[in-house]
Amino acid sequence: MRGFFVAGTDTGVGKTAITAALARVLSAQGFSVGVVKPVQSGNRAADPDGDAMLLRRLAGVEDAPEEICPYAFAAPLAPLVAARLEAREVDMGRVLTAVDLIAARHDVVLVEGAGGLLVPVGLSWTIADLALKLSLPLVIVARAGLGTVNHTLLTLEAARSRGLDVAAVVLNGQRADADESSVTNPDLIASFGDVAVVGPLPWLDGRIDEIVERLAEQLGVDPLLARLEREEAPSA
Ligand SMILES: Nc1ncnc2c1ncn2[C@@H]1O[C@H](COP(=O)(O)OP(=O)(O)O)[C@@H](O)[C@H]1O
Ligand SMILES: [Mg+2]
Repeated sequence: MRGFFVAGTDTGVGKTAITAALARVLSAQGFSVGVVKPVQSGNRAADPDGDAMLLRRLAGVEDAPEEICPYAFAAPLAPLVAARLEAREVDMGRVLTAVDLIAARHDVVLVEGAGGLLVPVGLSWTIADLALKLSLPLVIVARAGLGTVNHTLLTLEAARSRGLDVAAVVLNGQRADADESSVTNPDLIASFGDVAVVGPLPWLDGRIDEIVERLAEQLGVDPLLARLEREEAPSA
């Protein structure tokens, strides 16, 4: 399976926006791009306001909502807790099968996590465990402003200590009146985290479709394209 697992340093950092923008860039490069939001809380799978339907629309795919999002829960809580409120449980095997199905239909699959990397999904497993089982390299979306160096380095350390491979960090949502840290954040993360840093991408006004379109124009995908090519090359 070729693609990326889009994780975040937190909820609300722009995972969905960046996943959609990345889908558009890779589609424009000629890849057939599938999207998966394996576990969603706060919206049902077919809810137009939920991540799954947003990704489906913005990526321009026709996979069914229930295929893109095999598990959706009403409560806007960590998946484990939201599932428990409905007396349900997320089965890792079913999630892996769902991702396999979408991946088989497309050249590249983009899987959006839920919340941050260590958010509980199953009784004894987190988003990080899911990313590991999928063997997809991570794209870590992080905020652009003050505080992001610590959150991003913590996420990188947690990812690598579990054996996850990080393709890039994307800094998202830099305000026009950004604090002083925004000048030094990208280099600090790149050097202390030993990782490719994309962005910072600006905070934009407008409808989500327009925002994603403009993020796609500004998203520097070279480190990600290099990674995809590497995975395509036959191993020696
Ligand atoms: N660069 C940006 N400019 C403007 N709005 C953004 C940007 N990135 C994300 N948003 C908005 O911020 C909110 C959170 O982003 P989202 O992608 O849903 O985060 P996550 O998927 O990590 O929870 C959404 O309303 C989204 O449209
Ligand atoms: Mg999201």
